Formats: sequence, structure tokens, C-alpha cells
Amino acid sequence: MVTDARLEADRQFAELVEAIRAAGVELALYSGIKPELPAACLTKGVAEGKAFGADVVLGIGGGSCIDAAKAIAILLSYGEPLSSYYGEFKVPGPTLPVIAMPTSSGTGSEVTPVAVVADAERDLKVGIASPYLIPHTAICDPELTYSCPPELTAMSGADALVHAIEAFTTAKRTPTAETAHEHVFLGKNELSDLTALAAIEHIGASLERACTSPNDETARSRMMFGALLAGQAFGVAGTSVCHAAQYPIGAKTHTPHGLGVAAMLPFALAFNRSHAGADIVRVGCALGADVAGRGEDAAVEATIQHVERLLGVIGVPVSLAAMGLSEADLDWTAEHAMASARLIKNNPRPIDLEAMRYLIGAAHAGDRSNLNAFQSQTYAV
Ligand SMILES: NC(=O)c1ccc[n+]([C@@H]2O[C@H](COP(=O)([O-])OP(=O)(O)OC[C@H]3O[C@@H](n4cnc5c(N)ncnc54)[C@H](O)[C@@H]3O)[C@@H](O)[C@H]2O)c1
Repeated sequence: MVTDARLEADRQFAELVEAIRAAGVELALYSGIKPELPAACLTKGVAEGKAFGADVVLGIGGGSCIDAAKAIAILLSYGEPLSSYYGEFKVPGPTLPVIAMPTSSGTGSEVTPVAVVADAERDLKVGIASPYLIPHTAICDPELTYSCPPELTAMSGADALVHAIEAFTTAKRTPTAETAHEHVFLGKNELSDLTALAAIEHIGASLERACTSPNDETARSRMMFGALLAGQAFGVAGTSVCHAAQYPIGAKTHTPHGLGVAAMLPFALAFNRSHAGADIVRVGCALGADVAGRGEDAAVEATIQHVERLLGVIGVPVSLAAMGLSEADLDWTAEHAMASARLIKNNPRPIDLEAMRYLIGAAHAGDRSNLNAFQSQTYAV
């Protein structure tokens, strides 16, 4: 069982561990996982899992603990180094089965084919993406999230919202017989659209309430279900520019993943409106934005304003400057965002470095007014 020190110190968690043991299951507990998953904290867990002879890995906690369980399962199954699995399709086959029990409503890691780690030897966080990383079983109990403080509820919930919106608005790929061999994230399709829209509805209706009333059963349940659906949506469709930009933003500002992707969202929607206007309006409908009876342009604007209001009330900063990103780091941020080619190619509107610089600059200034009209010198929109 893989978790962190917070959960290990919890009395009810100790009772859960005892109940599992009392049921005749041998269990070794590793509680050394840290937020945002520094790769170094996996080493001891792997050694303990090996010595114990684990045949199942159970991750319980936030996304970091579930991703840790996935990474430990890979290392127990196929050996070190972890870096040999970075990227897509590098995990050679099935790993030890992983059981995922999320205690935050956000990452969707309990159903996704990816684990994200922070490797001290690299500037940015890295992903291991493989269909073999989808957990065998996900046990989702909203009561486990009642203890999440408002900031964690907000940031992890915003992460889930961005997963769903990016999954619904990504570029559509024409499927071929090779698609599933070439891409872990296959691209948006009818099924991912269904789960994405349902996720947006659940999260849009409950995120604010879950932050202000932590014991509201309905809000907590809808958030957990929404995060799971969003994970299923982006596990198929992939994510795009908000996620590409968050990696360097997070590296420079040391802010949580959810905060960075959410801070980018209104700017990404404004940038993409020329290529994804109809999809953005459907996002607005699912969120309950004031889009009825409006033309596309006005409905897109109402949707972006609705998103801005929701993010504002849960505490997402209005600009990258307010998040602490310095002006001197803007070029570096844009260049490193472009390095996530897998995410960049998913964006509905083509992006080159010039466009990325413009987008990051606008998000830094908190001004989205000219993003739609922006024209890069090197591609035509
Ligand atoms: N694998 C995926 O599909 C995927 C998707 C998105 C993000 N991620 C990754 O997941 C990580 C973020 O996960 P996260 O947002 O869940 O945060 P987290 O797992 O990093 O946890 C943040 C903090 O919240 C605490 N916490 C968790 N549950 C709690 C609860 N019920 N009550 C009180 N405190 C609680 C943790 O102890 C920790 O201190 C990042 O590393 C991110 O890159 C993974």
C-alpha cells in the first residue's frame, strides 16, 4: 500500500489497514510519497515492495500517491531506471495490478493511462504514458475527500475541469488502423465527448459548493464522479495547450499542477475560439453559462466569462504574473511549453513558438482581448 505521511497519521486509515490485515491479506505500508511526486521518493518504496514480495500495489491518496503506485508497479515488474519508461509506449507489458483509491477529486489518475513524476535531473515534470498504466481497479469513495481543505478542493477540482474542457475541445484526429499503436491518447471521439460533457456538468455544478461546504455530500460525490469522468475523457482524447504550458509554469513558480492549468484556461479558450467555437459553446451549455439564444461569438464570450467567474471564486489567479511567473521567464516558459509536442499537436488551433510566446505573454498580462485576432508570421489561421 502506497501513501503519504498525512494519511498514515490518520486514525481511520489505521483502522482500514487493520481491517485489511484482519481479513487475511498480508500488507506492507509505504508512506514516503510527497506532493507532485519527486521521483526520489519512489526508491525506498520499490525496495520495500521487493523485499515484501508484493503482488498487488494499492495507491491511496491524491494523484501523487496513485501515480507513485503506478510507477512502483512498473519498477517492481520491469526494474530500474524509471527514466527508461518516460514518454509513450515504453512500458513493455502489463505491470503488477494497481488498485487506486483517490482522496482528492482532480487528477483522474485512477482511470488514466499516465503517471507524472518530478525528476530532479530534468527541468520539467515528465510523464509515463502507456495503456498498461490504467489501474486494474478504482475505488472511489467521496467521503475520503471530506478532509480536503478548500485550496486543495479548488486546485484539484480545477485540474479536473481543465481535463474535461481540453478533452472536449482538442483537435479531432482521423482514426486509422495504426492510431492505437501510434498514440496512447487517441484523440477526441464520440465516447470521450460523452464523458467530457458529463464531467463538465458535474464539476461545473459542484466545484464552488465543494469548496465552500466541504461536507456537502452531493457536491463531493459529483466532484469525485466528475473527476473520474474527466480522467476517462482525457485518457482517450488527451489534453493540450493548458497542460503544455503548466509544466514550465509549475517548474518556475512551484505552484500546484491544478493552479497552472486553470490559470491558462480562459486564455487558451480565447486563443482557440476561431477553431473550436462550436465546441466551446457546448462547454458553456454543460456549465450552465448564459448561452441560450446567442450567436456563436456571444455564446463563446459568455462561456469564457462563466469560466473566469468560477475560477475567480475558487481562488485561481487572474494572470501568470499574479501566480508569480516573472517577466524574465516568459520566453523560457514558451520554449519549454513547445517541447510538449504530444500536447501541442492536440490543440485545435495550430501553435508555433511565436503564437506560444504571444499566448504566454497575454496570460501573464491577464489580457485575452487580442488573442483571437493574433496572426503568426509562420502559419495561416
Ligand atoms: N496520472 C494522471 O492522470 C495525472 C493527471 C493530472 C495530474 N497528475 C499529477 O497528480 C499530482 C497532483 O495530484 P493532487 O492534485 O491529487 O495532489 P497531491 O497528490 O500532490 O496532494 C497534494 C496534497 O494534498 C494532500 N491530500 C490529498 N488528499 C487529501 C485529503 N483527502 N485531505 C487532506 N489532504 C489531502 C496530500 O497529502 C498532499 O499534501 C501532480 O503530480 C500531477 O502532475 C496526474
